[in-house]
Amino acid sequence: MRKPIIAGNWKMHNTIGEARELIEALLPLIEKREREVIVCPSFVCLSEASKLLKGSDVTLGAQNMHYEDKGAYTGEVSPLFLKEIGVSYVILGHSERRHIFGEKDDLINNKVKSALKHGLNPILCVGETLKEREKDNTFEIIQTQIYGGLAGLENENLAKLVIAYEPVWAIGTGKTATKEDANEVIAYIRRLLSEKFGDEIGYNTRILYGGSVKPSNIKELMEMKEIDGALVGGASLKAEDFSKIANY
Ligand code: 13P
Repeated sequence: MRKPIIAGNWKMHNTIGEARELIEALLPLIEKREREVIVCPSFVCLSEASKLLKGSDVTLGAQNMHYEDKGAYTGEVSPLFLKEIGVSYVILGHSERRHIFGEKDDLINNKVKSALKHGLNPILCVGETLKEREKDNTFEIIQTQIYGGLAGLENENLAKLVIAYEPVWAIGTGKTATKEDANEVIAYIRRLLSEKFGDEIGYNTRILYGGSVKPSNIKELMEMKEIDGALVGGASLKAEDFSKIANY
């Protein structure tokens, strides 16, 4: 059985003080359930968040990283820094990284490999734009992003891999993919994983949905057979909303 994951991507929100307030409000609201709850604050808040989360049922994630351990990469953050702080998950290839900062599949692939090498759990994000969906190119785009992001990986590395299907048109727009559409694309991703890495990886890899997940739609999404959790943006910034999603 795949253990569900509810992850909050705070994006570029919350100062250290605000992050502290949010975590302190959130922790008492999270009920003990058979699932993983993750928060992904900005880099500058990770250290404080790590201290506050110690001993709790909430795990720490980062929103990005560089693939090299160290070097002349001004402004970048190494996987070693994340490990030292106590980060367990790292979001990679988020659509905002792809579309605003120009990240391509080969760069994202290097990051995924590096995260796995360092024992971090990568959350590899994939998803089509509205134009691509309207042109009926969704499955082609997803295949390119999955094959590109996972190129050169071996089966035994992949136990820690998590994938998030986030259709770009559903992010921050209030438009959620229908549960059937999300389930269909996630089933397709699972088939791609099975074809490339074997049925065990295909079956066991956790695949999340992201895009305007709210307390009002989490239940129906989680009822779908292929959907193993959610990557939540806006609604993860309020303790009450995020806890309702995590406690669905
Ligand atoms: P929203 O939940 O705000 O649509 O954002 C989704 C997202 O991008 C999570 O990574």
